Amino acid sequence: MSFLPQLILWYGREAAPDVPKMAGYRLRPYQRGDEEGWLALLQANGELGRWDQQRLEDVLAGTRVQLFVEGAGQIVACAGCNDRPRELRPCWEIGWVAVHPAFQGRGLGKCIVAAAVAQAKALGKRPIYLLTDDFRIPALRCYLKLGFLPNNSHPSYPRRWADIFARLGADYQGLKPEFGALERSP
Ligand SMILES: CC(C)(COP(=O)(O)OP(=O)(O)OC[C@H]1O[C@@H](n2cnc3c(N)ncnc32)[C@H](O)[C@@H]1OP(=O)(O)O)[C@@H](O)C(=O)NCCC(=O)NCCS
Repeated sequence: MSFLPQLILWYGREAAPDVPKMAGYRLRPYQRGDEEGWLALLQANGELGRWDQQRLEDVLAGTRVQLFVEGAGQIVACAGCNDRPRELRPCWEIGWVAVHPAFQGRGLGKCIVAAAVAQAKALGKRPIYLLTDDFRIPALRCYLKLGFLPNNSHPSYPRRWADIFARLGADYQGLKPEFGALERSP
């Protein structure tokens, strides 16, 4: 089987997305001592591989701004904004997006990703991207709604995006890309 790269989506809007106010939740950056709650969130999430203290420290070392949503006395969502070049240009990458399973489906995913994009915009004008996988339908819904755009920089992408859009439902069909000529990233 040939190697398939992750999907890449570039943020396609000039303005940052609105960050919705979520009653009962607080959005804030990382502060010392968050490791325990962050690790508990990633372990409860269970969809981003195995996590331990060392892996968390490695992520933190490469993260420019780490954001959390706190609610019910615990960290319930996370996303990072990373200084990560792509195609030989300085870029911001949004990474390690997770919401605690007990808090999913309430808009916290869209809220923390919107906040990470707003943070990236505030850090300086650079292209913003993220990498994800074909099977992550809730994540893809978040990203597409917020203004991230599928891109056609690998021959496998048109077929893969067609399969994804077939799973997304009527609401999303207006966001379906038309991959004619090879599209360049912004
Ligand atoms: C992706 C993730 C962060 C979204 O968190 P969330 O708080 O549930 O997101 P939201 O409530 O903002 O919902 C986002 C969209 O996903 C949909 N969604 C939420 N849970 C879903 C589910 N189980 N199945 C299908 N769609 C779902 C929502 O309906 C919404 O779409 P809509 O606006 O069309 O209604 C969360 O599902 C998660 O932690 N997934 C595992 C880790 C992961 O895949 N991270 C991304 C790595 S790139």
